[in-house]
Amino acid sequence: KKTQLNFKLVLLGDAAVGKSSCVERFVKNEFFEFQQPTIGAAFLTQTIPLEDYIVKFEIWDTAGQERYRSLAPMYYRGAAAALVVYDITDPDSFDGAKTWIQELQRQGAADIVIGLAGNKLDLSSQRKIDSKEAKSFADENGCIFYETSAKTGANVQEIFVAIAQKLPKN
Ligand code: GTP
Ligand code: MG
Repeated sequence: KKTQLNFKLVLLGDAAVGKSSCVERFVKNEFFEFQQPTIGAAFLTQTIPLEDYIVKFEIWDTAGQERYRSLAPMYYRGAAAALVVYDITDPDSFDGAKTWIQELQRQGAADIVIGLAGNKLDLSSQRKIDSKEAKSFADENGCIFYETSAKTGANVQEIFVAIAQKLPKN
């Protein structure tokens, strides 16, 4: 039987970028056009079987609305991993993602694994953020990067698996 390792993962990002939708896709393989804004935060778990062990993510899906901003440190404190989400059609949300990554690097755990998700890839005809620009920002900051679509499911499992694989195993 494979060993199970538990890791706390926090989702951060501006309101309506699709944090909850990415988690719903990852955990339940569902998508809702009328996903409600998160109030405070939501807790979910999901396991990923890797080659030699099972990673269990204990996921805190935070609320992106400004009024909840001050709660975020409670959720990223002690997190082994973070998934920072922006919307590829919304430049403000990309600026927001950069701010979250800087904050995590200053205030988060020293060895935190950070993923950057450019979500709503299905809306690429309305794209405002160049994928090369986002990729180089991620590379400069040591982050895993994928463009995702919670709607179609594109790259959602992939980004969580890439985070799981990068987590320290001891
Ligand atoms: P807060 O909880 O308020 O911080 O928002 P959130 O980041 O959790 O966003 P949420 O998942 O609630 O999604 C916001 C809206 O975007 C909803 O109407 C979703 O259906 C839609 N949405 C989320 N992901 C995608 C996507 O990949 N593509 C498209 N087209 N719409 C998406
Ligand atoms: Mg939400």
